[in-house]
Amino acid sequence: MSILVTGGTGYIGSHTIVELLEAGFDVIVVDNLSNSSEDVIDRIEKITGKDLSFYNIDLLNKKALDLIFHENSIEAVIHFAGYKAVGESVQLPLKYYQNNIISTLNMCEVMEKYGVYNLIFSSSATVYGYPERLPLDETCSTSALNPYGRTKLMIEEILTDLSNSNRKWRIALLRYFNPVGAHNSGLIGEKPNGTPNNLMPYITQVASGKLEKLYVFGGDYPSKDGTGVRDYIHVVDLALGHLKALKKIDILSGIEAFNLGTGIGYSVLEVIETFEEASKVKIPYEIVSRRFGDTGICYANPVKANKHLNWYAERDLFEMCKSAWDWENTREFISI
Ligand code: NAD
Ligand code: UFG
Repeated sequence: MSILVTGGTGYIGSHTIVELLEAGFDVIVVDNLSNSSEDVIDRIEKITGKDLSFYNIDLLNKKALDLIFHENSIEAVIHFAGYKAVGESVQLPLKYYQNNIISTLNMCEVMEKYGVYNLIFSSSATVYGYPERLPLDETCSTSALNPYGRTKLMIEEILTDLSNSNRKWRIALLRYFNPVGAHNSGLIGEKPNGTPNNLMPYITQVASGKLEKLYVFGGDYPSKDGTGVRDYIHVVDLALGHLKALKKIDILSGIEAFNLGTGIGYSVLEVIETFEEASKVKIPYEIVSRRFGDTGICYANPVKANKHLNWYAERDLFEMCKSAWDWENTREFISI
C-alpha cells in the first residue's frame, strides 16, 4: 500500500516525502512541475536512499489521475498541489479557482471510485481571515481575504460536505501557519519564482546581495515593536505533522481541522535580528506602510494537534533562519 502525494516536488511536499520515506512508507508522487522541477525527485532519493515513483501529470487531467489509482494500491492521499500566490490570485482569480478547486474535486472523485477514503489536505491559517481572537484555535471564525484564501475555505467546505455524505471518509485539514526554513541536507528547500513575496526568502536574498534591502510592511501594528507578527514554523516540523496525521487518520471522526504552528508569534524585527545572529550578515531594512490586505498579528493555538496527533513543533526560530540561509547558499551549487 502506498501514500499518494500530490504537489510532491514542491516546497512542503518534498520535505514531507523525505519524512514519509524515512518512516518506511511507500510513496507515489504526482506533480505537473508548474512550480517545481523534476530534479527534486533525485534529491529526495539522494537524501533517503530510497526510490520514488513519479508521475508528471496535471490533476486537472482526471483520466491520467484515474490511471495512477488503477496501476497502484493507494491507502491515503496527501494533497499539496495547488497555486499559492496571494497577489496573483487577486489578479487571476479564475486561474486559482480552476486549478485549486477542480483538481481537488477530481482527486476526491477518483478516490471515491477506488474506495480510498483517507485524505490529508493542505489548508492554511489564511482561512481565519482577520483573527477573531488570539491565539487562533480551530473553533475561531473563518473568512477569506483574497481568492487564494477563498479556495482554501471552499475546499474545506467541500470536504466537509463529502465527509457528511459518506462516513467512510477520514479527512485531516491541516492549517499551516508560516512555513520557513529547509532540510538540513541542503538539498531541498523553497524556490520562489522571481522576487519573493514572503518574508524569509526575501531576507535570504537581501543577505546574499540579490536584493538591496528589506521593506518592512507596517510599523504601527499593536505588537511590541509595531511590526507584523507571525507564527513561523520550520518546514521539517510541518512535514512531521503530516506523518503524525497519517498515523492517526483512522481514529479521526470524519473530518477534523488542526492548526500546525508553534504557538509563538515573532515580529518582523525579531526575525531580522535572529536571522542576523544565524547568518552573521546585516540586513538593511526600511519600515514602510502596511501591505494591503495584511493581518497585523497572527499565531496559533496548536494544542489540538499536540493532544490528538501527538505532534509538537520542536525547531526554534534560530534553526529556521540558519537552515533558510544555508539553503540560499547551497541550492545553486549542488548538482545531483
Ligand atoms: P509549492 O508551489 O512549492 O508546491 C505545490 C506543488 O503543486 C508545485 O510543485 C506545483 O508544481 C504543483 N501543482 C500545482 N498545481 C498542480 C496541478 N494542477 N497538478 C499537479 N501539480 C500541481 O507550494 P508549497 O509551499 O509546497 O505549498 C503546498 C500546499 O500548502 C499548497 O496547497 C499551499 O497552498 C499550501 N500552503 C502553503 C503555505 C506556504 O506558505 N508555503 C502556507 C499555507 C498553505
Ligand atoms: N513582510 C515584510 N516584508 C516583506 C514580506 C513580508 O515586512 O517583504 C511581513 C508581512 O507584512 C508579515 C510578515 O512579514 O507581517 C510575514 O509575511 P509573509 O508574506 O511571509 O507571510 P503571510 O503571513 O503574509 O502569508 C503567508 C502565505 C499565505 C498564507 C499565510 C498563512 O503567503 O499564503 O502565510 O499560512 F496563507
